[in-house]
Amino acid sequence: MSETNLVHLNAPDCWINDPNGFIYFKGMYHLFYQCFPYATQWGRMHWGHAVSKDLVQWEHKGIALYPSKLDDRSGCFSGSAVEQDGKMHLIYTGVNYIEEDPENINTCLNDQFQSAQLMITSENGMTFDNLADKKTVIPPIAAQHIGSKTHTRDPKVWREKDAWYMVLGSSVEGKGRLLFYRSKDLQHWEYVNHVEKENFGWMWECPDYFETDGEKVLIFSPMGFLNDGKAYDSAAVCMIPEFDAESCTMHLPDEFQFLDYGLDLYAPQSTTDAEGRRVLVAWARMPEAVDGKWNGMFCIPRMVEVKNGHIYFRPHPNVQNRFTKKISSPTEAGKGGYKISLDIDEGAEINIGGYRISYRNNRISADRSTVFAGHDEIRCHFETPAIYEGNHLEIYVASNLIEVYINNGEYVLSNVVYGLSDQIQAENYEIFTTQD
Ligand code: FRU
Repeated sequence: MSETNLVHLNAPDCWINDPNGFIYFKGMYHLFYQCFPYATQWGRMHWGHAVSKDLVQWEHKGIALYPSKLDDRSGCFSGSAVEQDGKMHLIYTGVNYIEEDPENINTCLNDQFQSAQLMITSENGMTFDNLADKKTVIPPIAAQHIGSKTHTRDPKVWREKDAWYMVLGSSVEGKGRLLFYRSKDLQHWEYVNHVEKENFGWMWECPDYFETDGEKVLIFSPMGFLNDGKAYDSAAVCMIPEFDAESCTMHLPDEFQFLDYGLDLYAPQSTTDAEGRRVLVAWARMPEAVDGKWNGMFCIPRMVEVKNGHIYFRPHPNVQNRFTKKISSPTEAGKGGYKISLDIDEGAEINIGGYRISYRNNRISADRSTVFAGHDEIRCHFETPAIYEGNHLEIYVASNLIEVYINNGEYVLSNVVYGLSDQIQAENYEIFTTQD
């Protein structure tokens, strides 16, 4: 088991998916995550735990949450963290399978399960008493016209106007929706309102709502959304909604952006960093375990900024500031991988270890077909919308994830890859690695 990770947090010897409970607490970043600790595939969910002083160097801390109550006996699904009275509070979805698959009791049959929202507290953010400190705060929903007792999950909690608010993803009559709840004390929650949208998937996972740069931002991951016959048919989207906290009335605009135009990143979660800025991480979905050993990693922590109605994502400054050691070839790169910096000309194509990036008709496109062999069920070709702010690329390359930041975060296109070579074909580029 690897004890530390630089820049990207990888699964320690097992399976991981969504980031959970991301918080800066008592001088330390805590990043929990969905984890099945016994195999390189999804199963009965636990929360793994990693900490970092700087969002760059991560240390694995083992398992924080495990199934222990009737309401979470089949899994501790995604959720978030807040601080109240100096204590860390983790609020998450507990799942109880009504019909277990006898051949794999870590999964359920025929969608027969129930979901409740639970909370666990910790004084120091390091130790979690799974027997004494868990409490169900919202039982499975009985009113089926409000939300599904099965598909309601992923509480994101925030503080606004003297109260705590929670947004949950849900599904009613085959349509995704968000449910809003309010609480004075994090224990007693009152349902207030919901929002939905036509033709936008059947279930909305992992909602996140916050303000940054004086603008409101909503991020969620609708399932059954892309419908182009390719896996994955769900994707993380973001938009600038209107929201009235008093009535929890949200209005969703027609315009939306993908979180990332490589469409591999999913279920992102944000928090505020030590300086109060909005920072986000997302799960990079991987079709195959690396060396048969681990499956699942997170993207570089990204700042979320809004300018002129557009949402930007760029690497957190702590990460940018580490990639300062100039090298002449990827073979000289350190543990954190390398960064290529260049301006790309209209009509040009560059090749990074077999991953091809081109610039045509004002759009950046990518082709990973040669570094993603054997996964025909998943897309290999990607394209951003038209770009306007220049032609500058900063490309962060790690062994299994390439992140292309366009014009300092106007758009990002990231892809999972396998077996990159050390060859680069490009003109007028500079290459940097970390000082470590
Ligand atoms: C998203 C998701 C969440 C759920 C978790 C289970 O990837 O399906 O909705 O809480 O993963 O692992």
